[in-house]
Amino acid sequence: MNVAALSQAKLNFDVERIRADFPILSRKVHNKPLVYLDSAASAQKPRQVIETITRAYSEDYANVHRGAYYLSEKSTSDYEAAREKVRAFINAKSITEIVYTKGATEAINLVAASYGRAFIKEGDEIVLTTLEHHSNFVPWDLLRKATGCVLREVTVQLDGSVRIEDFAKVIGPRTKLVAVAHVSNVLGTVLPIKEIAKLAHAVGAKLLVDGCQGIVHAEVDVQALDCDFYVFSGHKLYGPTGIGVLWGREAILDTMPPYQGGGDMIETVAFAGCTWAGLPAKFEAGTPPIVEAIGLGAAIDYINTQDRVAVAAHEHALIAYALERLPEVPGLRLIGTAPGKASVQSFVVEGAHPHDLATVLDRSGVCVRAGHHCAQPLMEALGVSATARASFAMYSTQAEIDALVAALIKARELLV
Ligand code: ALA
Repeated sequence: MNVAALSQAKLNFDVERIRADFPILSRKVHNKPLVYLDSAASAQKPRQVIETITRAYSEDYANVHRGAYYLSEKSTSDYEAAREKVRAFINAKSITEIVYTKGATEAINLVAASYGRAFIKEGDEIVLTTLEHHSNFVPWDLLRKATGCVLREVTVQLDGSVRIEDFAKVIGPRTKLVAVAHVSNVLGTVLPIKEIAKLAHAVGAKLLVDGCQGIVHAEVDVQALDCDFYVFSGHKLYGPTGIGVLWGREAILDTMPPYQGGGDMIETVAFAGCTWAGLPAKFEAGTPPIVEAIGLGAAIDYINTQDRVAVAAHEHALIAYALERLPEVPGLRLIGTAPGKASVQSFVVEGAHPHDLATVLDRSGVCVRAGHHCAQPLMEALGVSATARASFAMYSTQAEIDALVAALIKARELLV
């Protein structure tokens, strides 16, 4: 975005109006105003989502796809309407490509267990980067153990960037799948998905994108990205926990065997053998996360009422401000400064363990995550055991970054 577009977008943005929609943001913690800087772990929920969930349970609740009575029909139509909202939100071709899961982790496990077991064999290669979240690493390790396939690594630069030429070196004739984060949950690095798709497709490999952190910060168009699978979780997108999405190209999902067996995913069941329902039901065994899906639909409605360019400009300004202010803390080292990064910032402070920092910050009402962030291979590559991480959402403010810096300076005095 150029500077003129950024300033125009900022004019269209009123963070206080947004904050008023999030009831939790006005509470206190340890008698201090809440400064919630852990939205990459889970975002807070606007009133509109909370009210939709309450209404679904108090007025319109029944199981879906089963009842020939009003409440079940209403619940089914709300549940399926949410699927259409997801489809439009990521510009998928059809609702048959939208599979509900309990989260991004389950979505990746689904692809690994179904696509992986069916199409990836001994000696085939899966390309990952060093910065993958465990949810986009461990399912492939399980597949490696089951099939003898090989995991190949694209390394990360010191500033946190990932170079397309490094993908070009690792992707080759044995590559069957490339599986990468859209945005790193530790570093905020935005990966060049379209270019990676070109390289993967040139050798006939498929591309899976873990969009958990990506879809939160920018509009996603799965057709324009040209990936084959895109997964994300509802709870990081201002929606409820317990719901995630697997988008896959219909032609690929069609060839994949079911992931779990049970009710709702069958066409016929007989001792002679079972047959499967069409998409997406084939991958949705059992009673699904009904109200969670409806809540995700409400979160998407909420996001759609915002000017997304203005939200992106706001988050861009926040990360720029954090990058400027955090180094004022003596001994602080920023981790992850790749150009164009998203609004997630890791750091370490010399002489203070990240867990101790987070505990002391909490006494000032400041919530940050500390630890390995489910990214142990990245921690090892960075030569640290843990970092502290502040992450920003549409409701975050510059004043909260000021509070973080002040609390860090105080915490350091106590700990170092
Ligand atoms: N994956 C989430 C995070 O990075 C939980 O914090």
